[in-house]
Amino acid sequence: MPEPGTYGYKKTDGICNGVCGEPASKTILTMSRLKCVLRGFDFKALLALLIGVPILILMIYAHGQKVTYFLRPIWESPPEPFKIIPHYYHENVTMENLCKLHGWKVRETPRRVFDAVLFSNELDILEIRWNELSPYVSEFVLLESNSTFTGLEKALHFKENRDRFGFAESRLTYGMIGGRFVKGENPFVEESYQRVALDQLIKIAKIENDDLLIMSDVDEIPSGHTINLLRWCDDIPEILHLQLRNYLYSFQFFLDDKSWRASIHRYQFGKTRYAHFRQTDELLADSGWHCSFCFRYISDFAFKMQAYSHVDRIRFKYFLNPERIQDVICRGADLFDMLPEEYTFQEIIAKLGPIPSTYSAVHLPSYLLQNVDRYRYLLPGNCMRDSG
Ligand SMILES: *[C@@H]1O[C@H](CO)[C@@H](O)[C@H](O)[C@H]1NC(C)=O
Ligand SMILES: *[C@@H]1O[C@H](CO)[C@@H](O)[C@H](O)[C@H]1NC(C)=O
Repeated sequence: MPEPGTYGYKKTDGICNGVCGEPASKTILTMSRLKCVLRGFDFKALLALLIGVPILILMIYAHGQKVTYFLRPIWESPPEPFKIIPHYYHENVTMENLCKLHGWKVRETPRRVFDAVLFSNELDILEIRWNELSPYVSEFVLLESNSTFTGLEKALHFKENRDRFGFAESRLTYGMIGGRFVKGENPFVEESYQRVALDQLIKIAKIENDDLLIMSDVDEIPSGHTINLLRWCDDIPEILHLQLRNYLYSFQFFLDDKSWRASIHRYQFGKTRYAHFRQTDELLADSGWHCSFCFRYISDFAFKMQAYSHVDRIRFKYFLNPERIQDVICRGADLFDMLPEEYTFQEIIAKLGPIPSTYSAVHLPSYLLQNVDRYRYLLPGNCMRDSG
């Protein structure tokens, strides 16, 4: 650290003092003073203009999102809070008692369960998901496209790896839909186009009234016991959102328990539509896991960053640099260098900076823990990824 005052404006003062320090006459003195003042002014103004302004513009450009997100509590109020339904579970409590704890009655036979997903490239997470749900699911419904939501061409990863999912084959309704490849369109349009197609596929899978339908992204994994409870109990709500534990990159970085987009529906013909937005106020607590960007290969991270509906967040090409991505994953930092998306200053500030590591791997999907050799990268303390 330099001593304060050894450079910068102080220095110009010093030069001025030297030049102006020995007056020859009163007039010259005044002239020199004026010159000095002017020169001082010029120097500062020039410095501000040549360095300050470009830096300011660059900062606003680079951190514009941060400024708007930080000020979000001022211009946007939080959505209505959910009505959270307490969730009871222990493996040794009978289903009759579990239903009763929730104020429901146990059924004679369980409902059929349909798990329907739009698939992109998350093969490992799909395998963990389907194994978690397998004992309770009657029909797996999966739709994939040769287009990402952002209109990029993509391989049919599921089709190419279908043999990995032999255990589900007899219960699988698979669909493929060609992308529209419209340039410069809002990614949400292609996304909703694919969701409408998924609606058709669910009907092709022969869903019936009052069957349970799980609507969620592949990486929003309801716990098996949650689905078992909901298929066995009568009088559960028609639509119920599932509160999931939010993880980022792996089960090392537990962010919060605010994931709510996954929902479960008692299917009704002509009424139930596949959606990923808020559809009701009721939210069942602690119902599973949402593992965002939980990929095996660095290349998968770069692909996902470009493929999904917030592609505009890649403000700089270097965000896709593999070394940077690896570094961000190990630190639990943000891939898009963004601030937390929260509605109060208190929460934004509480979540600033990287996510702290968690060392608990208790109550994770059982298939993950049973196959630790294959999925080690998803467990605490294993952030290094292969390039892919
Ligand atoms: C569960 O129930 C079985 C049989 O009643 C009993 O042996 C076992 O100790 C119980 N386990 C727990 C964790 O309570
Ligand atoms: C995408 O799939 C559709 C339907 O199979 C096909 O007609 C189209 O040629 C494919 N597009 C690309 C770019 O692979």
